[in-house]
Amino acid sequence: MEAFLIEGGIKLKGSINISGAKNAALPLMASSILAPGVHTFKNIPNLRDVKTMAILLSHLGAKSDFGETLTISTDEIRADDAPYEVVKTMRASVLVMGPLVARLGHARISLPGGCAIGARPIDLHLKALSSMGAEVNLHNGLAEVKAKKLRASHIIFEKVTVTGTENIMMAAVLADGKTILENVAREPEVVDLANYLNEMGARIEGAGTNRIEIEGVKSLKPSVHTVIPDRIEAATFMIAAAITGGEIIINNAPIKYLKTFLSHLKESGVSVRMEDKGFKVKGTEKLSSVDVITAPYPGFATDIQAQFMALMTIADGISIIKETIFENRFMHVPELNRLGANIKIDGSMAIVKGCKKLRGAPVQATDLRASASLVLAGLAAEGITKVSRIYHLERGYEKLDEKLSTLGAKILRIPDKLP
Ligand code: EPZ
Repeated sequence: MEAFLIEGGIKLKGSINISGAKNAALPLMASSILAPGVHTFKNIPNLRDVKTMAILLSHLGAKSDFGETLTISTDEIRADDAPYEVVKTMRASVLVMGPLVARLGHARISLPGGCAIGARPIDLHLKALSSMGAEVNLHNGLAEVKAKKLRASHIIFEKVTVTGTENIMMAAVLADGKTILENVAREPEVVDLANYLNEMGARIEGAGTNRIEIEGVKSLKPSVHTVIPDRIEAATFMIAAAITGGEIIINNAPIKYLKTFLSHLKESGVSVRMEDKGFKVKGTEKLSSVDVITAPYPGFATDIQAQFMALMTIADGISIIKETIFENRFMHVPELNRLGANIKIDGSMAIVKGCKKLRGAPVQATDLRASASLVLAGLAAEGITKVSRIYHLERGYEKLDEKLSTLGAKILRIPDKLP
């Protein structure tokens, strides 16, 4: 195991580049199952979850080659199962289900089980597939899905689900007829996937809105695609500038995907503006508290909630942060309180009373975005903060310590005896 040792109190300065979006790369990689041949992806981030998806695809018979770009050859798909050992480490493994049923006519996906932030079932994925004529059987912790040929359907999702939207969009591209999806996720990563599917010859309209229409086609051809920048990583670095009172430039910030977050950041007194060199974020001595309610895109992203909460721990006043997407996404709260924060949880709300200063202490990461929140707090805290179990971070942030060090942060990666 490894940990980060962070010496806080240093104002970050400098500029960085944002990596490709994890949550775009994963569905894009899964979509390669839909078309035999060699798929080429540029700007794929070097992350644990990307490697896990490549392992799952090779288990299915695909061949991945990581170089300047990522190529995935799917001439041969000879297995149809996503085993529990893989699914339990990465819930996004469920994204191979739609493509497998579309290509092979069957898939056996281990049910993900819970994860730190919530139960995260896949019932809506399965319900949608059965409405497209698939036979779905749940047994021994597996979802077994069969369909000779999926047929078009008009599906209204009871809840907005990002990977549910992506899975069914991929299942529908080779189905008979026109599938209509309503109450779908509008995330930029859903749009990036739809763009690649259309580049492969699919006929998808409406991605990015709450209604998507998919005209099934006979077959698709592999293509070349560049992954969009990671809006969650960009937001995390913007908060790093804000929480340390520093000033950084983000060279390729996808600000058009961050409107709601940026309006909250500005409301807290942080100055943000586009300059010819890039997007400049400047912290302020007088941070004001701001209330947050997470929501599906284009609302305030749940994946930025923990990081923004870290910022609010040192803002003047009280901020109320309401988490509406996941039932247990406050695992960072007790750890932030160990650093001197004053946060109380009341159901799906966290009441954050700003304090003057955080003080360094050993803390423990529990999930991907909670760990980012602890690193951010450590950058602001007086003294040394040790963040254990940073393998959570490596899932979704490429070289976070190296990028922070180029901005002047004192952050050291050390071996950790904590299991
Ligand atoms: C995606 O997860 C992201 N992961 C998550 O990012 C992100 O937090 C989440 O969307 C919400 O924006 C990827 O894109 C790989 P959902 P996903 O299905 O698709 C419930 C990160 O940090 N639900 O949109 O799994 C579910 O329990 C990760 O990068 C059902 O009830 O999330 C949740 O409460 C964490 N039944 C809500 O819907 C279903 O069948 C939204 O979940 C599906 C979902």
